[in-house]
Amino acid sequence: MSSNKATQLQAIASEIAHCTACPLHRTRTNTVPGEGPADAEILLIGEGPGQREDALGRPFVGPSGDLLEQWLAEIGLRRDQVFIGNVVKCRPPGNRDPEPDEIAACAHFLDRQIELIQPKLIATLGRHSLNKFFPGARITKTHGIRGVKRAGSRVYLPLFHPAYILRNLSAAPAAVADMKLIPRLIKRLEQRLAEEAAEQAPPPATASVDAEADSHQLKLL
Ligand code: URA
Repeated sequence: MSSNKATQLQAIASEIAHCTACPLHRTRTNTVPGEGPADAEILLIGEGPGQREDALGRPFVGPSGDLLEQWLAEIGLRRDQVFIGNVVKCRPPGNRDPEPDEIAACAHFLDRQIELIQPKLIATLGRHSLNKFFPGARITKTHGIRGVKRAGSRVYLPLFHPAYILRNLSAAPAAVADMKLIPRLIKRLEQRLAEEAAEQAPPPATASVDAEADSHQLKLL
């Protein structure tokens, strides 16, 4: 099943490689579809490829990527254990922000990646990724525990973008503290899902004594 998912993710990556839906295709060197296990529990979503990402066709391989890897190490993870993607799959020239129509044209790729991977936790990195799941939210107010939201069997966690932290080093401890929420949030989600499943399950065997008594009474009536 997971190798089937990997094949489908690869098919999306091939579609991205041929995409001409927005002007970014004209200036890209490589598309950057994202990378990681097809059954990753954690999906990290950045904004868009920078210069190095565009050159290599891989997400977060420049200075932001180095910092992201350090953050992952803080929670005992390597980058190949999570899926790393972006809101737009082609580099905006000069590292400008992606335009709303570019984001809109690219959105279905990320949506399909999420649908396939079914991560337990989605962490947003940066404003555009944040606003996909938290419309209108501001990272300085929403990052970390204050912004956490659950929808069904998934948790969303707004994180600072590593590039922001590289420019604002005083926020680095807060960024690491936010990152450290990830394992706790996944554990709590799993507990809640188990509790909710138990609440909906049929009564356990010990209750059958009463059920048996009831049916016996029915027979007696
Ligand atoms: N910044 C992003 O948002 N994404 C990358 O892939 C690299 C830097």
